[in-house]
Amino acid sequence: MKTRILEKLKNTEGFVSGQEICNEAGVSRTAVWKVINQLKEEGYVIESVSKKGYRIISYPDILSESEIKSTITGSHIIKDVVYYEETDSTNTRAKILGEESINKGTLVVADRQISGKGRRERVFLSPKGEGIYMTLLIKPDIPPIKASMLTIIAAVALREAIEKEAVIEAKIKWPNDIIVNGRKLAGILTEMNAQMDYINYLVIGIGINVNNKKMDDEIKDISTSIYLESKREIKRSSLIKTIVMCFEEYYKKFLNVGDLSFIKEEYNNNLIHYKKEVTIISGSKSENFISLGILDDGELEVEKNGKIQKVISGEVSLRGAEKYV
Ligand code: BTN
Repeated sequence: MKTRILEKLKNTEGFVSGQEICNEAGVSRTAVWKVINQLKEEGYVIESVSKKGYRIISYPDILSESEIKSTITGSHIIKDVVYYEETDSTNTRAKILGEESINKGTLVVADRQISGKGRRERVFLSPKGEGIYMTLLIKPDIPPIKASMLTIIAAVALREAIEKEAVIEAKIKWPNDIIVNGRKLAGILTEMNAQMDYINYLVIGIGINVNNKKMDDEIKDISTSIYLESKREIKRSSLIKTIVMCFEEYYKKFLNVGDLSFIKEEYNNNLIHYKKEVTIISGSKSENFISLGILDDGELEVEKNGKIQKVISGEVSLRGAEKYV
């Protein structure tokens, strides 16, 4: 009921009468009044005028199940939202839901993660109320070998959503870090549970530094946030919606096309090291190449002394030839 009332208030310019809300939500006026008060307590500024009804004036950067559900209406892939004020890791939570064979697209979001995970067993610092920590749980009908392509799809969607919402120029570091002004702003961790020829479920975890006023000492030289880059706070629910919408658009195309040919150019054009020198690190070995961008399957093509070869994301890590980016 709270979600429906919030949705109605957000989607109406001007006042909504109490009666209209009662009719649509099928509840009493007192129940509506209680929800309105709850929303006010959470920080929504709602004007109530007798004989006119209610009007939403503004809302701060709030995350809650109702806020997220009322914002991402219209999604074709997200059928449910699970929200935690605090959890270990939204990827871990999404995998548990995947095991329970919940057969619908689910979005898991947390306001804080205690054990946020990055790629290569790294920690993803996830302070309360500042970032976006979200995981998409999906069950795509594609062979497991193609799963890593969805990470590329997610990177393109995430970059585009950040640029749209935050109005800052964002680049991609292969395979899926989002870089702004030479520092990492967001990352993606994709995990999968599969049989030989069948994906049981796939989770795409996205972590973004959003309204952080300062980065933790241990990562401040290589990380940044939307606030630090733009000096503006943004509403996380709105960015979550834009990410879901952008992802959905490319995901649908991907399911039709079956590879990354339709998105390769967009990806490569936004690749921070496109046609530049990079260091590829594989175990204790590191070697410099020129990055030529991804191929239709998401593998990176690199060149050295006229010899071209391919690198696969799970096997190596990549840095700029001179520094992290
Ligand atoms: C990386 O940069 O190496 C990937 C970072 C991915 C972090 C996100 S936050 C939401 C989801 N839950 C996690 O534990 N990790 C991902």
